[in-house]
Amino acid sequence: MNEDQNIKSSLSEERVFDPPQDFAERCGGVWVDSMDTYRELHKASIEDPENFWSTVANELDWFEPWTKVVDWNPPDAKWFVNARTNVCHNCLDRLINLGHGDEPALIWEGEPSGDDGPEVKTYTYRELHAEVCRFANGLKSLGVGRGDIVTIYMGMVPELTIAVLACARIGAPHSVIFGGFSASAIADRVEDAKSRFLITCDGAWRRGAVVPLKAQVDQAATMTDKIETTIVLRRCDNEIDMRVGRDHFWSDIVADQPDDCPCEPMASEDMLFLLYTSGSTGKPKGIVHTTGGYMVHTYLTSRYTFNLRPGHSHVFWCTADVGWITGHSYIIYGILQNHVPTLMYEGAPNHPEPDRFWDIIERHKVTHFYTAPTAIRAFMKWGDEHPRKHDLSSLRVLGTVGEPINPEAWMWYHRMIGREQCPIVDTWWQTETGGHMITPLPGATPTVPGSCTLPFLGIDAAVVDSTGRELPPNEGGLLVIRKPWPSMLRGVYGDRQRFIDTYFSAVEGMYFAGDSARRDDQGNFWIMGRMDDVINVSGHRLGTMEVESALVSHDAVVEAAVVGMPHEIKGTGIAAFCTLSGDYTPDDALRGQLRAHVAEEIGPIAKPDIIRFTDALPKTRSGKIMRRLLRDVAEGKESTGDMTTLEDFSVLAKLRGDQE
Ligand code: WTA
Repeated sequence: MNEDQNIKSSLSEERVFDPPQDFAERCGGVWVDSMDTYRELHKASIEDPENFWSTVANELDWFEPWTKVVDWNPPDAKWFVNARTNVCHNCLDRLINLGHGDEPALIWEGEPSGDDGPEVKTYTYRELHAEVCRFANGLKSLGVGRGDIVTIYMGMVPELTIAVLACARIGAPHSVIFGGFSASAIADRVEDAKSRFLITCDGAWRRGAVVPLKAQVDQAATMTDKIETTIVLRRCDNEIDMRVGRDHFWSDIVADQPDDCPCEPMASEDMLFLLYTSGSTGKPKGIVHTTGGYMVHTYLTSRYTFNLRPGHSHVFWCTADVGWITGHSYIIYGILQNHVPTLMYEGAPNHPEPDRFWDIIERHKVTHFYTAPTAIRAFMKWGDEHPRKHDLSSLRVLGTVGEPINPEAWMWYHRMIGREQCPIVDTWWQTETGGHMITPLPGATPTVPGSCTLPFLGIDAAVVDSTGRELPPNEGGLLVIRKPWPSMLRGVYGDRQRFIDTYFSAVEGMYFAGDSARRDDQGNFWIMGRMDDVINVSGHRLGTMEVESALVSHDAVVEAAVVGMPHEIKGTGIAAFCTLSGDYTPDDALRGQLRAHVAEEIGPIAKPDIIRFTDALPKTRSGKIMRRLLRDVAEGKESTGDMTTLEDFSVLAKLRGDQE
């Protein structure tokens, strides 16, 4: 590989990396070992999904068997019909029953580092089981029952995993809210889910400072009257208010609880969790995931995408927050079911130094590392000396998720972190899909920097036009999934119409992902980006409308338009265009106030990178804001597209002029 090849654009990407020769040996075997095997398995899984998925499901425990594997009435899918199981049972009890009770299940590392290094806690399956049971009994003692939606707003502490598993155990769906969201984001989600119970922490450690989580919850409770009971874990010992009758300390509610709690036998289609995510319109929507299919899909994708080989001293580390789907599926559910210890790290990648992640990999001998392109770009910027200081030879498989990875970042990851010995699995999937959909299998698939390659087993992915016709190679179109898969979303909570409109209306009878894509001559998929008004900031989904609503809720702003723009680290940054009410001066002080206001309304991740004040926004005659033009302005490009419907050309001229 010479450097010239490096600068080729992704469109003409010709570098192909075969799985390393000694991959199987280094991993203790391989599940899918060649492209022939992959093709055979994929074909069989699509032709006979019943046989394929029931074989996988039979590796797990069920309390009652299914009468039918899948029942598909678009847009409604039911999997493992009439069966009963419990996901927590399959993550813990099943492995204890198989004799693995004393092996590590969860390894946690705190952010603060004392003289003896950071705090580390390891839970065996048996220990985790006991903690989960105690907390599950504590939840019950507060009146939480089957079907009650429990909101979880915590930092990355082991108790977060314990809380999630305890909810699953007693059949109370969880709704985890990312700890970086604000009080009003909590209130919106609590209202929508009608969630009466909330679990939080006093605070969370982030870059050496305390994020005051409980204070956000208190503020949220002034915006909604739904919260009846909260449980507060002490983590940072920061000062907090406790409201008598409503707030309970975690330590109190588990104090006298027995460490055994039976699993609720859940129906396959009982809700396991809700997870809110941004869409193009309105408030974030609650994506509904159910029990049986999600369990089976996260089990198989964890096993095959990462080639997890239990009994071969693996340590799996996914750096996502449990507040996102990646954390749900690949910190907790998928990995625990696979009998591989999952590592959870509390804090920031650059605390106390920019080598923290590499230090963690070296100390814990991490074998599987799963992170986001935005993090990789930040590491590149911080410099090669940081990974170079550490022994990363334990690594076997590297993963990425959340946004397209640029080939430069891919190559850096491959060379600097993988030392050219680790396959990179670029996994395309979504909150709605529950688990991986398009991804290489590390022992089989030749990888290409920037492409997520080929559909996972059982996944019928295609690039089509709006009539559903499959497009020839190298033509961009809509990315769809034509057949149901076990972990697909079952709905948008409380909004049937939105479920149908968003996912099953673009192309008749198929799931439309919201992304555009193309396939190359080898059939590899290349994700081109969102086709709706969702922007992907550092791999976090935000609706442009959410940010606009936050801006106009400030007194100064009359009208706002938000678009994505290329950003070196974040992938996509946020550009906001605002018209102001006459009483306000368009200056940097106001820019600062507006950024702080958006952070307050949604969370710091939604802060615009640039704010431009303008007298008017470019609109069509029918009054629609011309976002395409704004995107060009934000990128500093000349608009070459059709402008004939632009109401007032002078608006655009002014926006451009303002930039100089
Ligand atoms: C984007 C995260 C390119 C995509 C699991 C998708 C990706 C959205 C990739 C879902 C990838 C995710 N390559 N783009 N490997 N993975 N995306 O719901 O636009 O937070 O629709 O789920 O992220 O984001 P979400």
